[in-house]
Amino acid sequence: MASQVKNAVEELGEIFDDEATFEASSVDRARPIPRISIQAFCDDQRVAEVLQFAAEDRRLSKTHVSIHMGGIAAAIGHYVDSPTPNLIIVDSALRGSALLPELDKLAESCDAGTKVIVIGRHNDVLLYRELLRRGVSEYLVAPIDPMALMESISNLYNNPDTDPVGHVFAFIGAKGGVGSSTICHNVAWTLSEVLKSNVTIADLDLAFGTTGLDFNQDPVQGIAEALAAPERLDDQLLDRLLTKCSEHLSIFAAPVVLERDYEISPEACDMVIDVVRQNVPFVTVDLPHNWSPWSKRILLQADEVVITATPDLANLRNAKNILDLLKQSRKNDSKPLLVLNMANVPKRQEITLKEFEQALDLKAIAVIDYDCETFSQAANNGQMIEEFNAKCKATEKFRDIAMKMTKRKDMRTEKPAASPLSGLGPLLEKFKLKR
Ligand SMILES: Nc1ncnc2c1ncn2[C@@H]1O[C@H](COP(=O)(O)OP(=O)(O)OP(=O)(O)O)[C@@H](O)[C@H]1O
Ligand SMILES: [Mg+2]
Repeated sequence: MASQVKNAVEELGEIFDDEATFEASSVDRARPIPRISIQAFCDDQRVAEVLQFAAEDRRLSKTHVSIHMGGIAAAIGHYVDSPTPNLIIVDSALRGSALLPELDKLAESCDAGTKVIVIGRHNDVLLYRELLRRGVSEYLVAPIDPMALMESISNLYNNPDTDPVGHVFAFIGAKGGVGSSTICHNVAWTLSEVLKSNVTIADLDLAFGTTGLDFNQDPVQGIAEALAAPERLDDQLLDRLLTKCSEHLSIFAAPVVLERDYEISPEACDMVIDVVRQNVPFVTVDLPHNWSPWSKRILLQADEVVITATPDLANLRNAKNILDLLKQSRKNDSKPLLVLNMANVPKRQEITLKEFEQALDLKAIAVIDYDCETFSQAANNGQMIEEFNAKCKATEKFRDIAMKMTKRKDMRTEKPAASPLSGLGPLLEKFKLKR
């Protein structure tokens, strides 16, 4: 057994040797871009390649992008008898004095509402000002970076004053029952208590989700109603479907009934999460441990992914597969966050932290020990770990995860008061509610 583990760990480690391009910079400034059409006309093949690379990013997955060669002359010719899209990107090697009259010609065919980004070759502030004066939305100088381009587009279509766009954190377990939901709920609660920021937990484990139980709530409606008719979901309906657990935390609870069939489409998930993210700065998505087109979609579209694993071989293999998939599909995103949970169980043979991290080439952001007494009592009380015992080790770990997840250097140290609930009283109350 020990040698089987060792061999597998080494093998997985080799697969992860080549990781160079995975870490990205300035990933947070470019936000997902709404359903707009973008047409680009390039002079330079390299600019076209960067545009193509950006077009494949998750942030542009809802947009419709077409890229043509021929620069501004091709754009002018094209729009003589075609309507203009939401955004035109023109890449031009022309100098300012030659570029401006061409842009004026293009402007003659532009429909109201069409925005234009110009990519030029000259870092010239006078030209930049002149372009803005003529209504160009942004001027970028080649060579351009795909993230900078996405950031510019995102700034045009996500107005920070009117469209708050929340961060989405997807939590997934490398295996079933590894504590992914417990971590999702505790981290969300910590964020809401410590940062005093609004947080919504979306429980997508429709048949078996534990969000209601963990927060001692028994909502009648929740996320299933939104997923069944996502086009009807607006701010008012969302307000009715959410259950408020505390001043800053609400849950979008799972129905947890087995009579219903749950047919969820990736598009419905997208629409529902989009409405939620317009309303709160932090959305934590509690994904069930099953693999479907919609769960994959949420994972690939999230701003950050938190993978929870326990230190055994199956968890290592599955975590590696999830990492591989994310690495392939999210080239401009940082690596997912790894939490090793239920570690250090006496007498259990475990893969060590070092081996686990080496095999994945990923450092765990937190290691949480197996603590049967604390976790079972907190769960039975419908309390978070910090409410149950603010002094236990896991409390600090949840703060660490919340801090790293939101890229904060420091979390304020005041601790919410522990609630007096204990024993099985609240659990029994909960079942009374169900009767
Ligand atoms: N560090 C820990 N020590 C002891 N028990 C834990 C720990 N973390 C979680 N648990 C317990 O493990 C059980 C499973 O946790 P949880 O439901 O969060 O797992 P999950 O990965 O979401 O499972 P599922 O695959 O069903 O979604 C719960 O009873 C929880 O209280
Ligand atoms: Mg779960």
